[in-house]
Formats: sequence, C-alpha cells, structure tokens
Amino acid sequence: MCYFVAMTHQEIREKFRNFMESHGHTWVASSSLLPDDPSVLFTTAGMQQFKPYYTNPAMAPAKNVASIQKCVRTSDIDEVGDESHLTFFEMLGNFSFGGYFKDEAIRLAYDFITREMGLTIDYVSVFGGEDTVPADDDSERIWKALDPSIEVRKAGRADNFWGPTGDEGPCGPTTEVYVNGIEIWNIVFNQYFQTKEKELRLLETPGIDTGMGLERLAMVVQGKANIYETDLFPNHPTDRAGRIIADHSRAIVALIAEGLEPSNKDRGYVLRRLIRRIVTLEYMAGRSDVDLGPVYEQEKQKFLKTLGTGIKELGRVAEVDAAVAFRLYESYGLPYEVIKDIAGARAGSLTRGAFDEKFKEHQAKSRAGAEKKFGGHGLLLDTGELKAGNPEELQKVTRLHTATHLLHAALREVLGTEVHQAGSDITPERTRFDFTFPRKLTDEEKAAVEEIVNDAIKRDLAVNMVTLPKQEAEGTGALFFFKEKYPDPVNVYYVGPDMLNAFSKEFCGGPHVTHTGEIGRFTITKEESVSAGVRRIRAVIS
Ligand code: SER
Repeated sequence: MCYFVAMTHQEIREKFRNFMESHGHTWVASSSLLPDDPSVLFTTAGMQQFKPYYTNPAMAPAKNVASIQKCVRTSDIDEVGDESHLTFFEMLGNFSFGGYFKDEAIRLAYDFITREMGLTIDYVSVFGGEDTVPADDDSERIWKALDPSIEVRKAGRADNFWGPTGDEGPCGPTTEVYVNGIEIWNIVFNQYFQTKEKELRLLETPGIDTGMGLERLAMVVQGKANIYETDLFPNHPTDRAGRIIADHSRAIVALIAEGLEPSNKDRGYVLRRLIRRIVTLEYMAGRSDVDLGPVYEQEKQKFLKTLGTGIKELGRVAEVDAAVAFRLYESYGLPYEVIKDIAGARAGSLTRGAFDEKFKEHQAKSRAGAEKKFGGHGLLLDTGELKAGNPEELQKVTRLHTATHLLHAALREVLGTEVHQAGSDITPERTRFDFTFPRKLTDEEKAAVEEIVNDAIKRDLAVNMVTLPKQEAEGTGALFFFKEKYPDPVNVYYVGPDMLNAFSKEFCGGPHVTHTGEIGRFTITKEESVSAGVRRIRAVIS
C-alpha cells in the first residue's frame, strides 16, 4: 500500500535548516523587517542583514550562514492576488562570504530541491551577458555536469542579474531554478559592488546570496495550484479580494509587531496603504470582519470617515487619470491601489508611475510656493484679515495666520463644534479671532486651548495646500467662514500629514508657514465678549 502525506511548511523549514547545517552553515535568526540601512524601507531579502559582509568578509560571524528571513516587498504589490506574489513572505537562504562559490552553491540547490524536496526541476536560467557583464558560462557547465538533460535558458540583466538593495551594495549575475513553471530559487553570485553612481566594481571576495520563497516552495511541494492553498494560509481564500486580504493581513501584523505605526511617510505610509486597502475591500463587499488589533482598528475607523465620500466622488468620474486619482488621494486619503480596486476599468489606463509622478509634482510645487511666499519685497498685503507692510512683517503675520488656524481647531476641540469663526484680524503684533460661543471661557479652557496649539507647534506639523472644486472641498469637512465668498475651485490649507489626519483644515487664501514649528510660542492675552453669542480672543506669538 502506498499513501502520501504532504510535507507541512514546518517540515520544510526543518529540512532546510538541517540540510544547511549539515553542509557547514551556521544558522542565523531572521532579522527585523525594519533594517538600519537608511536607503531601504524594509528587509526585502535574506541578504539584507549580511550586506556589509560581502565587502568585509572578516566581519561575518562565519563564512557560510543560512537563515529563514521574514521579508516585505511592495514591488510586487500589483501582482498580489495571483498564484504566487506576496507583499509578506519568508525566504529560505544560504549565504557565503568567501567560503564557497558557484560550484557548491549550485550543487546545494540541486541536492536540496531534487533529493530533500523530491521535486523535478523544469529548467534553470543563467545570465547570458549584457553590457560590460560577461555571460555566466560557468553556471551552465556546472548545471550540465549535475544533470546533462537539464534545460538551461539564458536571459539578460532584467531577469538574471540581482541587486543591489538600496543605493549601493553587492550584486551580480544569478541562476534561477524553476519548478512547475514557477521561479523557486534565486542564486546570486555577488561578484560586484555597485556604487551610488551605478558603477560596477569587482568585489575582492565574491560571495553567494540565495533566496527561496517558503510559500512558493510549499506550493510546489504540496502540489497546490497557488500559494493560498498551502498550509501557510489556513483559510485558503479563492477570490482575488480574499487573497489580497490574506496577504496584506500577514504584512500588517508583522509590521505592527515591529512597532511600526501607520503614517504618511515612508514605512508608515506603506503600512497605511495596506490597511486602507483591506478596509476598502471589506467595505465594498459589505463586510467588516478582519480584526488585526488596535492599531489596525484605529486606522480603519479614521479612514472610514472619508472612504464613503471618496467612493462617491470616484463614482462620478468617467475616466480616472493620474490627476483625478491624486486629487482623491489628497482629499479622501484613497491610495493608488484602493482607487484601482474601486474604479476597475474606469482606471484602466491609470498607472502607478503616473500617480507617483503627480506626487512628486505636488511636492515640488509646494516647495516652490513656500519659497515664493517669502521672496517678495516691500509687499503690502491686506486681505482684510492680514496686514503687513514689509517682508519681516509679512513673515510675522504669516506665522500668526497659521497660529490662528490652530487656535480655531483647538477652540473646537475644547469647546465643541458649535464654535465657528465670526471674524478675524491679524497684524504683525497679534491675532484677533472672533467666534461663536455663548459664555466666557474658564481659565482651564483657555489653558487647554493654549496647550493644544503649542503642542501642535511642537510637533512641527506640515502645512499643505490643495485646490479643489468647491463642492468637493466642502465634502472634506474643511472649515470655512460663512461670511466669506470663496472662489471655485477653492484652496484648502491643512495642517498635518494629509487631509484625513489633519489637525486643522480650512478654506483659505494663505499665506501660511510650511511647518508649525516656525510659529514659536503661542499665548492668549485676552478673552472678551464682542456681542451676544460672540467671543473674541487676542493672542501673540514669541
Ligand atoms: N537576494 C536575492 C533575492 O532576493 C537572493 O536571495 O532574490
């Protein structure tokens, strides 16, 4: 009788570790997903923690090491949902810094795949030569010596050259192992060091860096059609949305476990996008059962405040191009992937490249705007709210102007949202702000308002401006002064990382400082009554 029990992913891990240890490798634990290397966002490969050893082998704890490294890669995010791409995965790898090179690396891979895993190799690929980098004839010869019938395909730099991670680092030609049509193992021959200027220099000691995705290996070993059917995904989601949720959930939990919080920049922004995508997919399916802990929940609740309006606005657009997509991101916090998920064919021509380009343009524009603001001479600015006669005065009223927005937000936080602007007047000496409120403020309330404003200043929040069609601007919840006539489209200034997470957002003509830290210390000097139901605050900055 013959029966077959598929190898579990735990058994695969153990086999890999035993195999590498019995072949002279020192086992090293997975390193953090958030590496010290400032030029990379996340650990995207097993070699990340060993990067310095390729240029400096004497530093390495051993010549040959092996690990199972947790990785986050966003480069494949658009493929997630198919059979084999993930944002979070684990990578089995063996590495050498002067211990062995091509012969041993290829033999180890061949033996592990064919003997330990009992798999049949479809074919392998080797580097066929490109530019100044010669073809890797050695690898072809080594594979053929192990198995004369093996098919060896050749490819150029795009497919068979790896690295570096970040701005500079070790890199080199690769040979890749394919099983059931899937790339299982990437073996990198780190012969070069690529400099920041993209120059390739020969490394003194050539090294080995190999990486094999645990999920893909489990898929072929367990005879499954996709990674989600393996025992690494107990729920085996079958539709694209379910798969994306399963993948992103793993990445989110792993990143939060490392202490990362959602934010609008760099690593935090990746986490934010992953969370928002799950929230959107659930929202569209009319469900809400993903539970990934308090950090997830908080971000979810925040995003749900604008998601509905964002979806509605998106529904009004026939063709979603990069400009529309970026506007929706700015107003409602809809990330690129989310827009793609919701708009489907209407965003068919929208590319990530074009969207990212809008980001860059926007950043460049706000920088230029900030420079122009303070560049003028003898400028007289009097918009009814602001009075300034020279650049120094303009700068002072500009700081007071932003402080006034913070004051407005802080008043609403302390006294409630019945507070509305009833007028304002800013001179280089002070700001005067009138607002609706039925009674005198207590000392505690005044102190609380001051503290909130000064806290926002201490946090040095960014001040940004976005121009939106008036109706859409109203949908963002930005404050406006009912007495004022605003143009359409209108400028909305917001203080904080984005509209959604803004400390303050108001319809406004500017000018404002670029960061709240420029304001200085904020002090309320007087609080009095103007008329029935209207109070007046005078405040200064120092
Ligand atoms: N660094 C290579 C990769 O990530 C091999 O580990 O594919």
